[in-house]
Amino acid sequence: MPTPTFSFTNNQNGKHYEYDILASTRGPSVVDLRTFFQDTGLFTYDPGFTSTASCASTITFIDGVKGELSYRGIPIETLATEHSYMETCYLLLTGALPDENALRDFDLELRHRAFLHEGLRNLFNSFPDNAHPMATLSATVTALSTFYDDHTMSQGEIDYQEMARRLIAKIPTIAAFAHRHSLGIPFVQPDIDLGFTKNFLTMMRAYPGGKMHLCATGHEDIKEVEVRALDTIFTLHADHEQNASTTVVRGVASTGAHPYVAISSGISALWGRAHGGANESVIAQLELIGSVDRVEAFIERAKDPDDDFRLMGFGHRVYKNFDPRAKILKTLQDELREELNLDTELMSIARKVEEIALHDEYFISRNLYPNIDFYTGIILTALQIPKSMFTPIFVIGRTVGWLTQWIEFKKDETSKIARPRQLYLGE
Ligand code: CMC
Repeated sequence: MPTPTFSFTNNQNGKHYEYDILASTRGPSVVDLRTFFQDTGLFTYDPGFTSTASCASTITFIDGVKGELSYRGIPIETLATEHSYMETCYLLLTGALPDENALRDFDLELRHRAFLHEGLRNLFNSFPDNAHPMATLSATVTALSTFYDDHTMSQGEIDYQEMARRLIAKIPTIAAFAHRHSLGIPFVQPDIDLGFTKNFLTMMRAYPGGKMHLCATGHEDIKEVEVRALDTIFTLHADHEQNASTTVVRGVASTGAHPYVAISSGISALWGRAHGGANESVIAQLELIGSVDRVEAFIERAKDPDDDFRLMGFGHRVYKNFDPRAKILKTLQDELREELNLDTELMSIARKVEEIALHDEYFISRNLYPNIDFYTGIILTALQIPKSMFTPIFVIGRTVGWLTQWIEFKKDETSKIARPRQLYLGE
């Protein structure tokens, strides 16, 4: 069968051009415009990359119209309900779910890699107490590259896996240290007896020496239901194809910089409120609304074209029906209601916002549905996680995705330095 093509005619000179259509396995195919400038002397114009595929990938697939998301071909619903975050990490990094032995080895490797070099620990003291943990995280991950300089030379699967597993293991420790530094309380070291998610919660909550809060009945251990909820949140954030921060990671990768510097840049990009920072902004906004009877007034503000107020946790560039991650979290939120004291004033305000927005013509006509960030904040608040740590939690979940995309970029022989063009309108 001949390769399907797409034709362009330049109506200024009548010249005709033909380009191959490259078939995708799922989702829209692409018109291969790599020689477009060379052939026509023109650039294509697509601010925000709304119609541009920046790479070929086999990692994550999103169908924004159907509201589908899968990692390596496995639907997110299956991963979130039947598999752990550790299994999801292994799946993303290697392309297949682990068997029992592979999972045990992977889990053990990460437990042993969770510790930080003492020199890196000292770095935290140079940040002011009120430093936002996202800034501390980004700076510390850049600093981590100085301890593992040889990763710049990484070549081949063994090097890539070591580099990636090292960072995935250390990110929760860095995030927990950033949090504890901001409170001026001593760091709690990782505990190799604990799995990834429980270890993170312990490093966040424990007293020095790793002991949990002491009450009349003894130490209050972290509940299994809390570990399950956070583990699911990590899984839902693990990758999301070519979003803003991943595009930044691939862009930095294209220059040949150290992989941890690329991830640090991804962390910075994620911080913004239009992207991962939305989870912190959602709770800040619900607090600003303050009571259920004030919700309608804020909805009106969100609809007013002259007011730049936006409803945080609503809308998505790709999902135009619903965000499947939000659907899973809404179900989880309902399951956790009794066990985790979710019946708060904030929760009532959130329910009211959701109810009005889902029935309002403004939101319906623009396909503005609650996204993942609308639900994470309520659950994380019930897990005693402070607002400033919401986006770092997104980082913990997403690090594996960024690293997998970095590795894919490096292995792709067609990869080039990211260098877009411009429509110049100046003098
Ligand atoms: N509240 C009110 N109006 C909105 C909102 C909102 N949250 N989002 C979009 N709109 C309106 C926007 O004003 C525009 O209206 P009009 O057509 O009248 O000019 C229309 O909807 C289209 O908006 P857009 O900005 O062109 O859409 P986009 O695809 O470029 O932006 C978005 C997507 C996520 C940046 C945006 O919806 C937004 O700012 N949402 C709030 C922040 C948020 O929740 N971000 C988390 C995204 S999910 C986590 C992640 O993957 O990062």
